[in-house]
Amino acid sequence: MISSKCSPLEGTVRVPGDKSMSHRALMFGALAEGETMISGLLEGEDVFNTANAMRTMGARIEKGGDGLWRCFGQGVGNLVEPSCVLDMGNSGTSTRLLMGIVASHPISACFTGDASLIKRPMGRVTVPLEQMGASFITRHGGKPPFAVKGTGEAKAITYRLPVASAQVKSAILLAGLNARGTTTVIEAHPTRDHSENMLRHFGVKVDIAKIEDGADAISVTGGQRLLGCAVDVPSDPSSAAFPIVAALINHGSEIKLIRVGINPRRIGLYETLIEMGAEIEFQNKAIDAGEPIANIIVKSTRPLKGVDVPASRVPSMIDEFPVLAMAAACAEGTTRMTDLAELRVKESDRLLMVANGLKACGVNLEMGEDWLTIHGTGKPPKGGATIETALDHRIAMSFLVLGTVTDEPIAIDDGSPINTSFPKFTALMAELGAKIQSK
Ligand code: S3P
Repeated sequence: MISSKCSPLEGTVRVPGDKSMSHRALMFGALAEGETMISGLLEGEDVFNTANAMRTMGARIEKGGDGLWRCFGQGVGNLVEPSCVLDMGNSGTSTRLLMGIVASHPISACFTGDASLIKRPMGRVTVPLEQMGASFITRHGGKPPFAVKGTGEAKAITYRLPVASAQVKSAILLAGLNARGTTTVIEAHPTRDHSENMLRHFGVKVDIAKIEDGADAISVTGGQRLLGCAVDVPSDPSSAAFPIVAALINHGSEIKLIRVGINPRRIGLYETLIEMGAEIEFQNKAIDAGEPIANIIVKSTRPLKGVDVPASRVPSMIDEFPVLAMAAACAEGTTRMTDLAELRVKESDRLLMVANGLKACGVNLEMGEDWLTIHGTGKPPKGGATIETALDHRIAMSFLVLGTVTDEPIAIDDGSPINTSFPKFTALMAELGAKIQSK
């Protein structure tokens, strides 16, 4: 795919449903009793992998028109053993959350994935789940493919997260739904809380308390039922980030995005862009199914300025550093990003992929083990490179966004991973005036 310089972006669009919430809606629907009606579900490959896995374990899941799905669950503890290997494709969230669910069911399952997923560390999930009574056989380094043997007699645990990870937190809490006693996850750095919010929406009591050192202790007691309900999934703030940054770096743009999730634990990028001088307005704020949503208006009236991104903000924008790096490359001055070790174990080594790609486009930067500093000139970089995307949808979309303003077009080596989270990316960007084409 190739992206070329275009006129200012304009228009009103709706980006697809939130990926994190879509996975959870299907998983919780499959664990619930009765029918769950889901609207706005992200129809992307990662979410289809979750749907297929839940079907293989006994849930009835039906796709209607336009993001409307119905799920008839089995009830907690009643999932059936999958009779085939669960291929989770590119999706770390599907894999890690399902590991938690299977861990406290008396079933065994084998998981695999694509060339990106099989490089990702699963030890962060197997360690606590083994303490709860599940057992795993993984490849060296805790990597997939792996097999899990769950237990119908899981033990509740109290576990302090060694890494800020909503996937690990969620895996433990989901295992705790079918464990004896109260399972507590302690998190020092707040991560996205969609599992907590949505479990409550399905009728589960989730307790959250501050402990002495300021960390949150999140608890669920086993034996609770989930009750089928209606879930309306808002647009994904991480997907909205691509048109938003494209508009901001393209002087004179004005775009509106409808019904985007603005959970405070997801909008660190927006806070950072506003500090960089961006005009971003949240209109018609509302709460839907326990999650805040708003329409977002973005105007590009002045150049962005470089900033230091506070390390405490990293979890709330963990997926947005690649696209922030594109904004930083066009901004005036230096942008410093620190505490980014987790970026090395995402769908790709995102620090390396961003640094290599930006250097190839003529950007001046420095990279360390867990940090990245980008020196912008206030003008778009030269571009004119073909970027290696390493099966990473966010690397692919970030560089296509940058290509909308560079002097020379930017190509990416493989656009197919975009289908994992934002299948209509090219069409939506075209609606706003971008010129992104398949080569
Ligand atoms: C996610 C949590 C984050 C994020 C991922 C989705 C989730 O991963 O990067 O895209 O839905 O819980 P970590 O838990 O590894 O930080």
